Formats: sequence, structure tokens, C-alpha cells
Amino acid sequence: MSRSGFFFPSLLACFAVSFGIAVYAPHSQLGALVPSFKDEDGLITDVYPVAQGGNAATGREVYIAQGCQSCHSQVVRGNESADIDRGWGVRRTVARDYIFEAPPVLGASRIGPDLTNVGSEKWRNEPENDTLRPEKRDRAWQLKHLYYPKAVVKDSNMPSYAYLFEERKISGHPSTDALVLPANLAPKAGFEIVPSADAKALVSYLASLNRSSPLKEAGVIAVAAPVKK
Ligand code: HEC
Repeated sequence: MSRSGFFFPSLLACFAVSFGIAVYAPHSQLGALVPSFKDEDGLITDVYPVAQGGNAATGREVYIAQGCQSCHSQVVRGNESADIDRGWGVRRTVARDYIFEAPPVLGASRIGPDLTNVGSEKWRNEPENDTLRPEKRDRAWQLKHLYYPKAVVKDSNMPSYAYLFEERKISGHPSTDALVLPANLAPKAGFEIVPSADAKALVSYLASLNRSSPLKEAGVIAVAAPVKK
């Protein structure tokens, strides 16, 4: 009997086993993850994660279209790495952090800092440990940074996204969103630089990035379960 009769069944078996290990097993373990919540005295509070909506969701599309993920990751590794010491998060990220993201933008390299928690209070308001970026990183900072990174981070090698902004003539009062720029970057008198809808959405997306909520599987438990008497 020729041995070719074994070829196709063996090939099929190889595919079936690989599919089982690489696709079916992870999907059956993680595919049905749901948000977690803190249960305080029977009240469901702080559901996490929640799906992004509105401007933040649009900003995510802009983030992907602009290729920000080619330089920025959005994944914090555990104590086996230096990620937490670098201040990129208070805990590692886990599968549940990404359940509403299709696809998750984990990033391809880390030429710039990880952005997993760039919207968290801690990140925005505690810049004193960061000698590179000593100012509070609020909305105005983020817009100015996108427009011309070197305007806020002296030696930044992040590219400028000035094409997401528009120079226009001031009619009446200056716009509230107009960038406040140093003299060498300021537009000519009577003109202002304002963010496009895409730039505004992008900054809303950055402000929404906060994966620091406690999750049991990340080794951080929020509140001790109330003791029922
Ligand atoms: C070529 C690589 C590169 C690309 C592409 C890039 N960045 Fe950056 N980014 C950097 C580097 C390097 C830094 C660190 C220096 C600095 O803060 O400017 C940085 C810093 C940042 C920071 C400041 C983080 C902090 O510590 O507060 C934000 C926010 C940011 N980038 C957002 C973006 C967004 C949004 C995009 C896409 C529109 C983008 N970056 C595209 C390289 C890049």
C-alpha cells in the first residue's frame, strides 16, 4: 500500500491540533470575559472596563490611522520587567483590559513611552518626577505636543502632527482652543492655530486611556469583600 494515503489525514490532524492550541484553547479561556466590578454592600459600582464612546472612540480611529502605535505601546508588563518602575502603570495589563477594543492597539515598538495610562490622574498631575516633561500634561499640553513636540519636550524626537491643525484668521475673539505658542512658533499677528476635529478627538482618546482599575487577575484587589454577619 502506498504511504500517500496517510498524507492528507496527517496534514488535517496537524491543522486541527494547531487550531486547538492556538485558537480554540485561548478563545475558550478568554473569549467570554466580561467587565469586573466592585461590589460594596451589594451595590455594583465602578464597572471596568467600559466601552469608549463619542470623541474618544473617534480619536482611537485617528490614533490608528496616524500610526501612533508604531512608536507607542499600550501594554504594561509585570514585575519581571521595568515597566512599573518606569511609572507606566500601577499594575500589569491583562486580557480583560482590552475586551472592548477591536483590535487592541498594543503597539509595535517603544520608541516613545508606553501610553496605557496616559489619561490617568497620576500621569497628568504628578509630573515632578519627570524631568523631560515637567509641566502638567493637560489638554492644552497634549495639543501643543502634537502640534510641535519640541515646543514642550526640548529634545523630543516625536514627529510633529501640525497637519492636524489649521492656521486661520481671528475673527472677533480668539478661539478658546487656539494654541498658546512661544514667539518662534506663533502665527503672524491676527492669525491663530486651532486643532482640527481629528486632533481634538485624538486628545480625548489620550485622556481616556487609564487601565489602572484594580483587577484580581492582575494581582490587585480593589476592596476587601464586605464581611456578611
Ligand atoms: C517616530 C515615533 C513616534 C510616533 C510615530 C509618535 N510618537 Fe509620541 N512620542 C515619541 C517619543 C520619542 C516621545 C518622547 C518624547 C516626547 O515626550 O515628546 C513621545 C511622547 C508622546 C507622548 C507624551 C507621553 C508622556 O510621557 O506624557 C504622547 C501623549 C504621545 N507621544 C502621543 C503620540 C500620538 C497621539 C501619536 C500619533 C499621532 C504619536 N505619539 C506618534 C515618538 C513617537
